[in-house]
Amino acid sequence: MSVAQKDYKKVTVKTLSDMKAHGEKISMLTAYDYTMATIVDGAGIDVILVGDSASNVMAGYQTTLPITLDQMIYHASSVVRGVNRALIVVDLPFGSYQSDPKEALRSAIRIMKESGAHSIKVEGGKEIKESIKRILNAGIPVMGHLGLTPQSIYKFGTFSVRAKEEEEAEKLKADALLLQKAGCFAIVLEKVPAKLAKEVAESLDIPVIGIGAGNGVDGQVLVLHDMIGMTKEFHPRFLRRYLNLYEDMTTAISQYVDDVKSVDFPSDKEQY
Ligand code: KIV
Repeated sequence: MSVAQKDYKKVTVKTLSDMKAHGEKISMLTAYDYTMATIVDGAGIDVILVGDSASNVMAGYQTTLPITLDQMIYHASSVVRGVNRALIVVDLPFGSYQSDPKEALRSAIRIMKESGAHSIKVEGGKEIKESIKRILNAGIPVMGHLGLTPQSIYKFGTFSVRAKEEEEAEKLKADALLLQKAGCFAIVLEKVPAKLAKEVAESLDIPVIGIGAGNGVDGQVLVLHDMIGMTKEFHPRFLRRYLNLYEDMTTAISQYVDDVKSVDFPSDKEQY
């Protein structure tokens, strides 16, 4: 039995630290609503991320930029009501923390107070150091996010792998250390070379959770709707699909349409 399952009824930031110390990998998935959160938590996930990928997955936007703080709080509070065990991390959305540390703290406090989640996540390193410190000083645990940071997609211009060149890799390593020193409890590394991600994970005491960052890190995160095959057009190399729900649901719904039209449904047994 895993360290987390044996020793902890509820996963906390300390659990994650213990897991890294014991060499136990951390499992993390996104969820944005109550029903999915109950399933993901019941299946034994360690961390649930209420990601701003809700902007894409739930609202159909092309990027994560449009989602608002109020919308994130709505998603987070729905998730909180469905979770017993996992640690819940909520993304601070674009525009809610970059302008100044006081606004960052206000946004983080709203997430914690109004949703009941356990921690927040922010994208970036040195540039947002003061905001991170301010949030941590208020006793709110912070997860960092480096590498491909989707809130900066218009700066990058592409979703391709980050930090392949020496200069960007060095900045990423320095930022990772800075986040650890500032007091972040973990870092997500998105879409960076596996060798670099492993080096970062090995150099830090806090857990490094990867997405498209290879298996040398301390845990993995995926967007739930991608890993259960509900999204159709997204095929990055790092994604493993465990189900093909888009097709399965289409088949089931087509069958329902046929059954309604042919008056096969409801049958005698399905009425009062
Ligand atoms: O918003 C999100 O889902 C994320 C993950 C991709 C790590 O930040």
